[in-house]
Order: sequence, then C-alpha cells, then structure tokens
Amino acid sequence: MSATSARIAVCPGSFDPLTMGHVDIIERAARLYDQIVVAVLLNVDKRPLFSVDERVALIEEVFAGRDNVAVDTFQGLLVDYAHQKGASVIVRGLRAVSDFEYEFQMALMNRHLAPRIETTFLMPAEQYTYISSRLIKEVFSLGGSVDGLVPPAVEAKLRARRQARPLPDARPT
Ligand code: PNS
Repeated sequence: MSATSARIAVCPGSFDPLTMGHVDIIERAARLYDQIVVAVLLNVDKRPLFSVDERVALIEEVFAGRDNVAVDTFQGLLVDYAHQKGASVIVRGLRAVSDFEYEFQMALMNRHLAPRIETTFLMPAEQYTYISSRLIKEVFSLGGSVDGLVPPAVEAKLRARRQARPLPDARPT
C-alpha cells in the first residue's frame, strides 16, 4: 500500500434501528480510518422495524456533519462488497464476552474468504455496552423509554411510528 492510499473501512450491520452504541463505534472508526462506509444489509429480517431506506436515511441524518462517513446498502458476501469498495478493513463493535463467539466466527470466516481484509473490533463507551437493536425494539414496543439509547432522530422516528400505529397495551394489568 502506498503512503498516500486512503484506508477505507466498512462498518456493516442491520442497524434496525441505529443505536447510540453503533454511533459510538462509527465515530471511533471515523477517527481511525480515512473513510468509513456504513453498510446496511438488505433483506436480513422479513419483518424489520424500519425499511432499509428508512435506516439509511436515519444514519445519513445522524452523520450529516461527518465528511468521511458514507452510508450504503449491500447484499451477498460482505467481503465481496468490501472489495468492491476498496476497503481493507471491516469494523465491528464488541460489547461483551457474549458477542465474542459470533464475532470470532464471522471474522475468521471472512478472513478465510478474503485473507487481505482485516476485521477490527472496537469497544463502545461503557454506558452503551448493554444496548442492542433487539432490546431497543422490545423496550420501545412495550412502552418503555429509549431516551439517550438511540440518536434523537431515531427516537423521533420511533415516536412517529407509535403514533401512526398505536401499540396494544402490552403491560400486565
Ligand atoms: O448487525 P448485525 O445483524 O449483527 O450484522 C451482521 C452482518 C450484516 C455483519 C452479517 O450478517 C454479514 O456480514 N452478512 C453478510 C453475509 C456474509 O458475508 N456472510 C459470511 C460472513 S460470516
């Protein structure tokens, strides 16, 4: 690699929805690498909370001021997408030991498929280590507060969703 070639990193995920944990990891990656491509996987979940277009729009809104963060979608093998983008790095967040096994398997499979692409793991700030998109959806769907756990734009979109489709009272009486 020449001294001038840009280091491009892909941050892949479902981002349904984007959490403050994701934001923290992407910001850390944007300080380490020249260019970040946040890549939203197409068609993971048959019943997503937000469509891929909505997720992309939210991520774009949150990182609007960051010149070296772009948002895109991908399907198929992540390493093929990384090659297409000229990326040499995949960035993933590691919150706790419970993430490790899944991430370890993915990283080694990706290395098997593409030995020149390196996976790097970044740890989010401690206050975000217990947040996941799955828990955000669960808490929100049961009427709990997700204030401070997702970016304000995501929270606004969640509220709008709740108004459009009021939830049945899920709390025990
Ligand atoms: O946010 P998620 O759902 O944990 O992200 C998972 C993701 C998108 C990183 C993973 O499912 C993925 O890379 N999918 C693409 C398919 C692929 O390349 N599979 C083989 C490598 S394990």
